[in-house]
Amino acid sequence: MKIALTGIKPTGTPHLGNYLGMIRPALNLARDYEAYYFIADYHAMTTVKDGAELRALSYDVAAVWLALGLDPARVTLYRQSDIPEVTELTWILACITPKGLMNRAHAYKASVDENRERDRDPDAGVNMGLFNYPILMAADILLPAANVVPVGADQRQHLEMTQDMAEAFNATYGPILTVPEAIIPDDVATIVGLDGRKMSKSYGNVIPIFDDPKQLRKTVMRIVTDSRPPDEPKNPEEDTIYQLYRHVAPPEAASSMAERYLAGGLGYGTAKGELYEALESTFGPARERYQEIVGDRAEIDRILAGGADRVRARAVPLLEKIRDAVGVCPLPAR
Ligand code: TRP
Repeated sequence: MKIALTGIKPTGTPHLGNYLGMIRPALNLARDYEAYYFIADYHAMTTVKDGAELRALSYDVAAVWLALGLDPARVTLYRQSDIPEVTELTWILACITPKGLMNRAHAYKASVDENRERDRDPDAGVNMGLFNYPILMAADILLPAANVVPVGADQRQHLEMTQDMAEAFNATYGPILTVPEAIIPDDVATIVGLDGRKMSKSYGNVIPIFDDPKQLRKTVMRIVTDSRPPDEPKNPEEDTIYQLYRHVAPPEAASSMAERYLAGGLGYGTAKGELYEALESTFGPARERYQEIVGDRAEIDRILAGGADRVRARAVPLLEKIRDAVGVCPLPAR
């Protein structure tokens, strides 16, 4: 079976857009691939500078995925920092990566452009972790020899850089690394937020999925609509409530809402109530599981350690080959 691998940056409570755009597709993909999903704690270090906070965020993201149905017997869930071989491969890849390629990386370039605009030193506020971010990401992917990498469109360039590094390595040292492919969902899958724009934390228009029922209802009531009365027929394709409802309600319920909008007689208040109910029945049980799991760090550690063992069983033999090919000594016994 082919290997699907992806990294999740630990950034706090998930919202509906994260769930529909990333978590649910990744869980579905695990039916057709041998799946390796990991918590990218080293990547988060480029921005999170507080140890206790990074640790808490890492446990949190593990608990979120477990609560939403990730089965650790079938999906290998692990923590990036449990695999020291990843940072070792990062150095090896750095030595075959042109600096000019890294200068063109979007995240780094955006910082440089902003600094220039503000008449600051181009590299002000840029740490080497941010600069090397794409190389660490390539090591994440290449070390377990992933075949496919499900990511958002914003990660396309990182995947192209990973392919470049794998090809450059193979051209220099022989065919050792597997060149991966990206799996990127098309843009029609964009999830709208409370105000009708793309759901995004930076727009402040998200629906957090693990809020308590009272808060969840309040959030749903904030969805922006026009002021047409209930009787007036409405186009569900242009309605934010329906656009969210159809992703979380059973198909028959979704088509019923669409029909009632078109026929006239369905008001926004009623539709919001139905959306709230659908969200609560989708996420209520997961929220309870989340609350249980997140408090049990020993259990999460046990699961992540099991995942790390499985990854290292793949990673260590490949790293031995790589060490041999580049001419450094074999791995010291651990
Ligand atoms: N950079 C990715 C993001 O910001 C997270 C990530 C780190 C990743 N390593 C990865 C994704 C390896 C896929 C594969 O979302």
